[in-house]
Amino acid sequence: MTFTLANLPYAHDALQPYMSKETLEYHHDKHHQAYVTNLNNLIKGTEFEGKSLEDIVKGSFGKNAPIFNNAGQDYNHNHFWNWMKPNGGGDKLPGKLAKKIDEDLGGLEKFKTDFIAAGVGQFGSGWAWLSVKNGKLEISKTLNGESPLVHGATPILGVDVWEHSYYIDYRNRRPDYLKAFVDHLVNWEYVESLFEKA
Ligand SMILES: [Fe+2]
Repeated sequence: MTFTLANLPYAHDALQPYMSKETLEYHHDKHHQAYVTNLNNLIKGTEFEGKSLEDIVKGSFGKNAPIFNNAGQDYNHNHFWNWMKPNGGGDKLPGKLAKKIDEDLGGLEKFKTDFIAAGVGQFGSGWAWLSVKNGKLEISKTLNGESPLVHGATPILGVDVWEHSYYIDYRNRRPDYLKAFVDHLVNWEYVESLFEKA
């Protein structure tokens, strides 16, 4: 069994003007494809061949960096495409999730500020996250291909802050990209579905 590149759940130009067709052509078709191709080549003949992607991510963390980096990035990007949608973001949150954000994170506006700050504060390549840990929501950031999955938490929202995610559209303005992500792109229904399962 080999891994295949997940389809984008919308057209390449569907997230414009907040994320361009060109960005998605490079980010999905080239960068994500490379992680999938590398992962398939690296696991051949190893203990990881035939395992699920989540099992490979957890099992290779701290043990096999090349396999972990590519498996982690395949896992992260599979979700990332679904964490966005045309006309997303804003304040239209499903009720249960909104209530939990109020309880654990001090409300939606504070969540947005703290989530953006996590992304801005991640030095170099990585991700900012909203995850569930021991029944509570928490915001975090990780380096390169890591995710909360390897830190005992379940990610329910993540944003890619590698330069390949925003450099074409925002150049060096990572804060503007993160603001556009929370205000116009987040697919809160998908976040809610992961929250319900966590
Ligand atoms: Fe990426």
